Amino acid sequence: MTQATAPTSGEGVERPSPVAIRDLPRFEKRPEGWSDHDFIAHWRAQGPAAVDRFGIVTLFGHDDLWRAVDPRFTRQVGIEAMQMQGRTEGAVYDFFDRSLLFANDARHRARRGPLARAFAHPLMNALRGEIAGQMRDLVRGLKGREVDFGAEVSGQLAARMIASVLGLPEADIPHFTQVVYGASRGLSFRSKEVLDEADVDMAELVAYAARLLDDRCARPREDFLTEFLAKVEGADLSEDEIRTQVATVVLGGADTTRMALASGFAQILSRPAQWAALKADPEGLKVSAAAECLRFDPVVGSIPRLAIEDFEIAGVAIPRGTYMAASLLGALRDPAVYARPEVFDIARDDHPKLHPVFGAGAHRCLGEALARAELEEALAVLAQEAPDAELVGAPPVLRGLGGTRGLPETRIRL
Ligand code: HEM
Repeated sequence: MTQATAPTSGEGVERPSPVAIRDLPRFEKRPEGWSDHDFIAHWRAQGPAAVDRFGIVTLFGHDDLWRAVDPRFTRQVGIEAMQMQGRTEGAVYDFFDRSLLFANDARHRARRGPLARAFAHPLMNALRGEIAGQMRDLVRGLKGREVDFGAEVSGQLAARMIASVLGLPEADIPHFTQVVYGASRGLSFRSKEVLDEADVDMAELVAYAARLLDDRCARPREDFLTEFLAKVEGADLSEDEIRTQVATVVLGGADTTRMALASGFAQILSRPAQWAALKADPEGLKVSAAAECLRFDPVVGSIPRLAIEDFEIAGVAIPRGTYMAASLLGALRDPAVYARPEVFDIARDDHPKLHPVFGAGAHRCLGEALARAELEEALAVLAQEAPDAELVGAPPVLRGLGGTRGLPETRIRL
């Protein structure tokens, strides 16, 4: 991308004038065999942004992520994401309409406020012992077997930990797990058939949340849901909104953590020297190893936003009404931030304090502390309990440029 220069006011300093969207490189169909990372790297080499045939501007830089979520210039993309898929009703549509994830400004604050403190670092760190216990239980039960790791190990851990935060009865966990992963499929762009199926599971998930909340109303306990009910008392939230925030927490924490652990552990196993290093010092390396698993092949592809004002980002003039995608695939391999970004290294020490995979601004992930605690403890347990673990085949490559990405089957012998 070439940028014309125009003099700025006074001082004689020349500042490049912003590039118009029509002059950005245009995404073309990718050649056979290219991964999402190959695709983003190719376009990043042409400039800091590119545009697709729908006019959506993708930004590749780490710092652009923060500017892209600046509420002076942009807002979260909400129900439009459903409408773009031709959906105007159904349980997934209602979820988009009522969840904090897709709300803005005062509505977003009203929905997020009652949840915010429940997921704070000290509370989530207190769960580390339980996470390690659940993970040991899972790994010991499967020792010596070849498993579909995403379904049988990491998916189970993520679901069990959310079930534990919500105080679910043990007997409900298998049904709960199936409903959660079914409903999760409604959160990314999918075919009509998949969305129809996700509608059924989403309706059941929200109904399940309603039953749990009714139970805590009748029988308060010292737990997350009872506290949540106390916080929403008198708040400006409908019954449907209250249930939907519980469903959002469940959905936000399930597939993301499931995929990050499966894909990250597979990357480690495919590098024997790094696997040996983790086994030699699990406590010393678990934090940087988890951060690298989250970076290398991120489970969320991009953060969508809509411009509400004319503004400039990455040297591009963005008119109001433009849809943008701040690419996490791009941000997490920005050479201005990460040395040799294409190299997977569990000892990497250049992770920014605010890991971009959890987004930025008002919607930054509420479950970050829980997700990190789960990944770190799970990796340490794997290093201790499954030292002979082996990856069967090549490491999985996650698929998708936006939303929650897809994890192919990940076969591991424990
Ligand atoms: C690997 C793990 C995870 C990743 C990569 C991740 C990533 C993200 C990202 C990128 C966002 C912001 C989306 C946006 O701005 O449009 C987000 C929001 C959110 N996440 Fe996570 N997440 C993870 C785990 C979790 C967990 C464990 C929970 C809950 C227990 C959770 C709950 C949420 C919620 C409720 C929001 C909405 C926040 C809001 O809109 O204010 N996430 N997450």
